[in-house]
Amino acid sequence: MTDNAYWRASLFVPEHMAEDVSALIAAECSLGVAIEDKDTVVPGEKGRTDGMARVTFTSDRAPDYWRLDVQARLADMGVQMDGGVLTVEQQEGDDWAHAWKKYFRPLTLSSRCHVTPSWCESPVMLRGAVNLLLDPGMAFGTGQHETTRLCTAFIDELCRDHKPHRVLDVGCGTGILAMFAKGLGCEIVVGIDNDHQAVTASKENAGQNNLLIDWRLLDPMGDPNGFVALGKFDLIVANVLAEPLIMMSPLLLNAVGEGGHIVLSGILASQAEDVAKAYIGASQNRGRHLTERERRRDGDWVALHFVDYP
Ligand SMILES: C[S@@+](CC[C@H](N)C(=O)[O-])C[C@H]1O[C@@H](n2cnc3c(N)ncnc32)[C@H](O)[C@@H]1O
Repeated sequence: MTDNAYWRASLFVPEHMAEDVSALIAAECSLGVAIEDKDTVVPGEKGRTDGMARVTFTSDRAPDYWRLDVQARLADMGVQMDGGVLTVEQQEGDDWAHAWKKYFRPLTLSSRCHVTPSWCESPVMLRGAVNLLLDPGMAFGTGQHETTRLCTAFIDELCRDHKPHRVLDVGCGTGILAMFAKGLGCEIVVGIDNDHQAVTASKENAGQNNLLIDWRLLDPMGDPNGFVALGKFDLIVANVLAEPLIMMSPLLLNAVGEGGHIVLSGILASQAEDVAKAYIGASQNRGRHLTERERRRDGDWVALHFVDYP
């Protein structure tokens, strides 16, 4: 096992916010933070625009532990990242799989949902349980994060109580939530992500688990027609971030069938009310009857469950 494995990440932020952003990152996850401004960033470099500084940091903790947290807290501070991009890369010379082995062990996320890393032996499962073999690659979604656990618990319960036929996972990452839905018996499952690495990881993971799922490289806001063409769903799960969830609210509402369910996460507790208002507002504007049925919290994170009453 490589003990000195670490990850390096960088993002562009407005120059006047660079110090505040660095302080936040240092507190969240970092071994070290560096700021490069107009004097040090190579002119013409991707992501560089006037008035922007690049903040680069290193962490010895796997990205699932801090990537979503950093993104959500920066959005909460009003930091507009360049194109919303936080690039993460493994340090050269390190072995990605070995680095992950330090962190990723078999996990139980809900009563019927379990995850085993592809390099570990599967524990013995009870009948009816789903045990996913998972290789995280570069995508988010090993099952370690609070938001993944919150969504999984809802999926487990909704599959038991309502048996949704068509399920959509928005922001599928490793494909973990879509795969749980499929494993728990949902007939048609679609997973979308705007990151090609996520779609690739999802395809590989679903293949490894013999689960037939329709994976698409798709951003609902970037290609609303492509999104509408996916049709209506009985259950939509979206573990993204508060801001894109709010922007997607009319689209997700249109995509949920009458009597259907929406589960949202990637939301800090301080942002939950704004997200809830956006969905209830979008529903009222369209003469629908979306109701927030439950709000659950795990640490600083929240998941919202809405039902569209016919
Ligand atoms: C927090 S991860 C969730 C991964 C996995 N579903 C889970 O619950 O662990 C969020 C995912 O949403 C994707 N994403 C972010 N914005 C998106 C957008 N506008 N359209 C589609 N996917 C998006 C990211 O690429 C990332 O894979």
